[in-house]
Amino acid sequence: MVEQASSLTGASVSACSESAGGALAQPTAHSVSSVGHAVTPGPILLLGAPGVGKGTQARELMRLWAIPQISTGDLLRANVSQGTELGLAAKEIMQCGNLVPDDLVNRMVAIRLAQPDTLNGFILDGFPRTLPQAHWLDAELAVRPGALPIVAVSLQVDYNLLLRRITGRRNCPVCQRIYNVFLQPPQRDGFCDVDGAALVQRADDTETCFQGRIGNYQSLTAPVIEHYRAQGRFAEVHGDREVAAVAAEVISAVERMRSGA
Ligand code: AP5
Ligand code: MG
Repeated sequence: MVEQASSLTGASVSACSESAGGALAQPTAHSVSSVGHAVTPGPILLLGAPGVGKGTQARELMRLWAIPQISTGDLLRANVSQGTELGLAAKEIMQCGNLVPDDLVNRMVAIRLAQPDTLNGFILDGFPRTLPQAHWLDAELAVRPGALPIVAVSLQVDYNLLLRRITGRRNCPVCQRIYNVFLQPPQRDGFCDVDGAALVQRADDTETCFQGRIGNYQSLTAPVIEHYRAQGRFAEVHGDREVAAVAAEVISAVERMRSGA
């Protein structure tokens, strides 16, 4: 079972401060550390378009609450790079932002959610992104002993800035820190500030792929946002600000929703 979990999730059971892909989150200048401790976070959904800042914000929340980030994009990319059965099935589909079939992604998430570091909560980043995935998740959590209800935060950024964020993004393959050559450049061009590794660009971070990704987002994922808006415990946060300012608003929205206010 553990072996199966490792191959499907691309990560073994991880300490609370590790990301789903197994990389330790490194402190950043934007870290949020003085608020939000009073809350048991439970399941948090970060929703929003490609490049809106889900991964960036997830790293802030996981550091604050010591709960894991579960990024289906990161997990799928880990499977692709490890050449697992799932990775082989997903590789072509993901190349330019088409969606991997729901049953494969749901199965991967189920295995990840069964790991013990999710007990106090977890941040879902990039999942659910179709209505069938949302219905599957709702049913899964409804029978999970002691699970708090989902709270959902939808991040908003306008199209032109999304494009700049996507085309400028660079990732550290070692610590997974996210940079942007236009907006959040590393100190030394092309290399990670934390561990000095050469930064990489995702294959789907081109302008052409971005058009397709946005199209999929509008047709398949926008209904998911409406689904959670209709359930209540839903907040919208403008993502076009400093990382710390966005994080502070996401955290206070989660606190508010958890306290029932
Ligand atoms: P995934 O990896 O989830 O991609 P995505 O949803 O397109 O989102 P991104 O990771 O591109 O953006 P983000 O919102 O995380 O932004 P980030 O924080 O990095 O999915 C990839 C693929 O996997 C999919 O296309 C699909 O094929 C498949 N897949 C995944 N999940 C699936 C599912 N559930 N079902 C089926 N298929 C699935 O930030 C972006 C940039 O902006 C960075 O450079 C960052 O430095 C910068 N930035 C962020 N915030 C700020 C800020 N406040 N100020 C300045 N710069 C900022
Ligand atoms: Mg991401």
